Amino acid sequence: MSGDPIYTEMIIEYSRNPSNYGKIENAHITRHDSNPLCGDSIDLYLNIDDKKISDVKFDGKGCAICMACSSVLTEMIKGKSLEDVKKFEKDELLSELGLEHLIKTSPVRIKCALLSLKALKYGIYSYFAEKMNDVESAGNLKEEAANLYRSEEHTSELQSLVNLVCRLLLEKKNKQ
Ligand code: FES
Repeated sequence: MSGDPIYTEMIIEYSRNPSNYGKIENAHITRHDSNPLCGDSIDLYLNIDDKKISDVKFDGKGCAICMACSSVLTEMIKGKSLEDVKKFEKDELLSELGLEHLIKTSPVRIKCALLSLKALKYGIYSYFAEKMNDVESAGNLKEEAANLYRSEEHTSELQSLVNLVCRLLLEKKNKQ
């Protein structure tokens, strides 16, 4: 592992001592996700206070890149507003660890790197979808989710997320 230039000292260090590793009991948002290519999986836990992420942790099993990216992601989003986190882009995370090149060079490794971000986006959008209380904001959320996932690699997740928002939208319309 250490002979591969991907594995910088920072990545190795994070993989040995991940940040914010652990579980939050009764977290406001929890999301499990797995990498279909290797079977590794993580759980992400978020607490929300005053529309900000007051606490975040993750646990599970993944390679060094997955652990490092999950660690850095939790460090970057702690204390941020939900609206800011919704807009958080994969390049911001990848560049923090010098991994931007993976988008072009390694379709396999990019799934390791973005596993926790995928869990985060899905968790946040599901939270918004559950909380929204009018049809207009539901429609906007659906549009946002569709645009977000058009620009991400995880296209199979796109459909389930947009479907979730559509279902909630429909339920709300039927109640009105
Ligand atoms: Fe499983 Fe990277 S090899 S997450």
